[in-house]
Amino acid sequence: MARTRIVVLSGAGVSAESGLGTFRDSGGLWEQYRIQDVATPEAWAADPVKVLRFYDMRREQCLNAVPNAAHHAIAELERVFDVDVITQNIDDLHERAGSSRVLHLHGELLKARSTADPSFVTRINGPSLGLGLRCPLGSQLRPHIVWFGEEVPLIPVAAALIARADLLIVVGTSLQVHPAAGLVHALPHGRPIWVVDPKPVPLSGAHVHTINSKASEGMPLLALELLREGSA
Ligand code: APR
Repeated sequence: MARTRIVVLSGAGVSAESGLGTFRDSGGLWEQYRIQDVATPEAWAADPVKVLRFYDMRREQCLNAVPNAAHHAIAELERVFDVDVITQNIDDLHERAGSSRVLHLHGELLKARSTADPSFVTRINGPSLGLGLRCPLGSQLRPHIVWFGEEVPLIPVAAALIARADLLIVVGTSLQVHPAAGLVHALPHGRPIWVVDPKPVPLSGAHVHTINSKASEGMPLLALELLREGSA
């Protein structure tokens, strides 16, 4: 019998309890920095050192963080289900918790790519990506991040995964950023959506079930319930 397909769409809230701040909560990253100063192609053109410093700081935090109970619960689902994680997060905490299929919609902090050839992507050794670090073609390496105003190349891949999912879990995302937020509409009508978030998320309907709690509490409870039903 084919295994039930679960897609997990995650956002910053899933890593909040690992010490990595969210963006739009009070005190979040976008209260401390202006998006246009650090996360756009224009910022990169105007002041690459500032942009590199911003991501260096975040990379250092990520390297010092560890997965929390929510990341582990999501990885556990693979014992019984066919699971894809689609994350807006640029940290690697899902992978470190053991999730084997993780799609990073908005890029990855631990990787850099060529500014001349976007297909050249390389791992960053250590916390810092310095000015002067170049690709084999001789161009400056940039953070492997999808900035505001740039295309999100993995959207079609993510939409195809959700279109064949039996169940969608939305955890720790405010669903404010498009096109990622629109992905929920790729789920075939009538399939259940479970939302885990301490705050209201703009999703409603008969097939939407909400767990109003932190990811580290709600996700293990949901995983336990699904694993119990799935292995029955
Ligand atoms: N557990 C679960 N959810 C939480 C927790 C927690 N402990 N703490 C906060 N949240 C929720 C918030 O209630 C909110 O719904 O996580 C969500 C965080 O929302 P945002 O800060 O908007 O983060 P996200 O949705 O991931 O942002 C999307 O925006 O700036 C960009 O590229 C960045 O990928 C990011 C994208």
